[in-house]
Amino acid sequence: MVKRRIAEILRSGQPDESLLIQGWVRTKRELKGFAFIEVNDGSSLASLQVVMNQDLPDYEAIIKKLNTGASVEVAGVLVPSQGKGQRIELKAEMVKVYGEADPETYPLQKKRHSYEFLRTIGHLRSRTNSFGAVFRVRNACATAIHQFFQERGFLWVHTPIITANDCEGAGELFNVTGLNLKDIPRADNNAVDYAQDFFGKPTYLTVSGQLEAEVMAMAFSNVYTFGPTFRAENSNTSRHLAEFWMVEPEMAFCDLDGDMDLAEAFLKHVFKYVLETCPEDMEFFNQRIDDTVLSTADNIINNEFQRLTYTEAISLLEKADVKFEYPVSWGLDLQSEHERYLAEQLFKKPVIVSDYPAKIKAFYMRLSDDEKTVRAMDILAPKIGEIIGGSQREERLDVLEKRILAQGMKPEDLWWYLDLRRYGTVPHAGFGLGFERLVQFMTGMGNIRDVIPFPRTPQSADF
Ligand code: 4AD
Ligand code: MG
Repeated sequence: MVKRRIAEILRSGQPDESLLIQGWVRTKRELKGFAFIEVNDGSSLASLQVVMNQDLPDYEAIIKKLNTGASVEVAGVLVPSQGKGQRIELKAEMVKVYGEADPETYPLQKKRHSYEFLRTIGHLRSRTNSFGAVFRVRNACATAIHQFFQERGFLWVHTPIITANDCEGAGELFNVTGLNLKDIPRADNNAVDYAQDFFGKPTYLTVSGQLEAEVMAMAFSNVYTFGPTFRAENSNTSRHLAEFWMVEPEMAFCDLDGDMDLAEAFLKHVFKYVLETCPEDMEFFNQRIDDTVLSTADNIINNEFQRLTYTEAISLLEKADVKFEYPVSWGLDLQSEHERYLAEQLFKKPVIVSDYPAKIKAFYMRLSDDEKTVRAMDILAPKIGEIIGGSQREERLDVLEKRILAQGMKPEDLWWYLDLRRYGTVPHAGFGLGFERLVQFMTGMGNIRDVIPFPRTPQSADF
């Protein structure tokens, strides 16, 4: 008998087809002489209704085992459904229970659970409607991202997870060591003797693949990374993770305007793809999570993003008739309340802020002629704040060396990065998209911990 996925059966299954499904019981309804079982295999939000007639062999014994959470295989024939809510249902001819789930202890009973509670059962929460929808949409976002870049001839490059550099220079690094922490080798001045460590020097989990992506762009012109990044920033917010996925395109022969154009086209593409491929899940988010999800998606796809400079943003914030917690003044970084005011209240769509003060931005960003600002851009999304951060890179060797020194870093540590400016340097630009923030933006999920299967945050690394 052919095994079929439930999404496909619901979409195109026809009466009289014989088939087999495997999945987990969501609900059971016993009536006189028969029972309805809802079976879900993760392929769609909707479950398939299975009808079991009491004349099935071992009916009583099997029905007892079919509690919420039990794993089953059902063979049978599709019949038009008499009931409301589904076009078709499966009339069971054989039901096999793989594993039972004790209703006294299985935590996912048929009622709504809070996301806080579901986080405590991260190993089971993917079996709920909400998390099923989130992780299918997350998968669709990832597919759309690859599709967007591959169609444009970008090479997907794999940058290291273990690195000796701090790309963002923010010091939010997790150390990677092979040293025995109970017996740390010391050098003469009592400092840790990293010469004895696995790599012979201090190493960290990467905060960004950008520097290595620049290396690859200087050979392949257009590249992108898509991988995990790590930040030891002690931010307990609904927008920060210690381990998150980042997408980082890098383009040779490209300036900041080209970078902003790509970023805007990129976000539009991903939203369009997800609306087309996950309509049922997106409808679910709109009904159950945030009733602006579909209108936001429509807004992204059909409107141009608002572009303005940091200097213009500051003057708009100074004129704003709202009380901000953090001060607004030229030279200070924008806080998330400022970002959200611009995107959510003022422009009501994504905003691209460019040309930030050099002092608050990373060493690699290209210094403008005013020598006060760098060619940086952030894309700010309603409800999320910063979703993309990018820049044109400093391609002039002498300027870059000065910027590295000014930020208290050593040029010799970045000798290979500086070589890119010594040999065949070109204007180039790129950006980083926080993948989980994108999934939040797409789904309306309020907490970033609920859009990644296994969130890592301060004091929490379960599952
Ligand atoms: O703005 P960031 O720090 O930029 C970079 O890392 C650059 N090297 C990117 C580049 O130009 N190639 O980070 C990029 C994005 C942010 O806009 C945000 O969406 C996300 O990464 N991000 C986080 N997401 C979740 N948790 C965190 N702790 C994040 N920190 C940054
Ligand atoms: Mg940033």
